[in-house]
Amino acid sequence: PLKAVIFDLDGVIADTAVVHHAAWKKLADDIDVPFDDATGERMKGVDRRGSLEILLQAAPRSYTEVEKQELAARKNDYYREQIEHFGPQDLLPGAREAIESVRRAGLKVALASASRNAGLLLQRLGIADLFDVVVDANRISRSKPDPEIFLAAASALGVAPDECIGVEDAAAGIASIRAAGMAAVGIGQARALAEADLVLPSIAAFDIGTLTTIRTTNWR
Ligand code: G6P
Ligand code: MG
Repeated sequence: PLKAVIFDLDGVIADTAVVHHAAWKKLADDIDVPFDDATGERMKGVDRRGSLEILLQAAPRSYTEVEKQELAARKNDYYREQIEHFGPQDLLPGAREAIESVRRAGLKVALASASRNAGLLLQRLGIADLFDVVVDANRISRSKPDPEIFLAAASALGVAPDECIGVEDAAAGIASIRAAGMAAVGIGQARALAEADLVLPSIAAFDIGTLTTIRTTNWR
């Protein structure tokens, strides 16, 4: 039976996928490295350092470790400048309702975010108390698409992976959920999330009633 739903944060609950994208674009412009939407899409769900490595694949020269640390810190400064001003209005439409509906259905709720800013964002958005468990990049060692973060969330909730649904907007995140042995709900465009068991256009379309009545094995 379904016992828990594990949500990604950026691009699923909070309207921050665009903010990460804009911060990487600003950094790319600073250092004259090309940056297109496809590169931005590949960075989704990937941790800060992993995202930088993806950006620098298109760089004409190599960067030292010290330079890379400075670049990652600068991107984070650009990002933080924007989320400093965040509040409940920056929740994606329907996000709070989706989480509350899961709780009302008697299921557990966890957050699995690759972002080191996840704790700050939850506070700003005013939803920190809606989660039974929060796992962020500070608590794991392998980034999505590795299953570690979703497995850690299930384990902290005390449920088995096959009793969980994971909700993600990133291809790397869907891969992580599937590798963890969970059912995967994609949020966004079906084309970018082909590995998901079910794709919804936005979190506003999330309906826990439908998810609990459909056997996950019948989705594909
Ligand atoms: C999320 C986002 C990524 C971001 C990562 C790290 O997974 O989808 O775009 O790179 O978090 O975020 P951070 O806030 O730690 O730089
Ligand atoms: Mg995301």
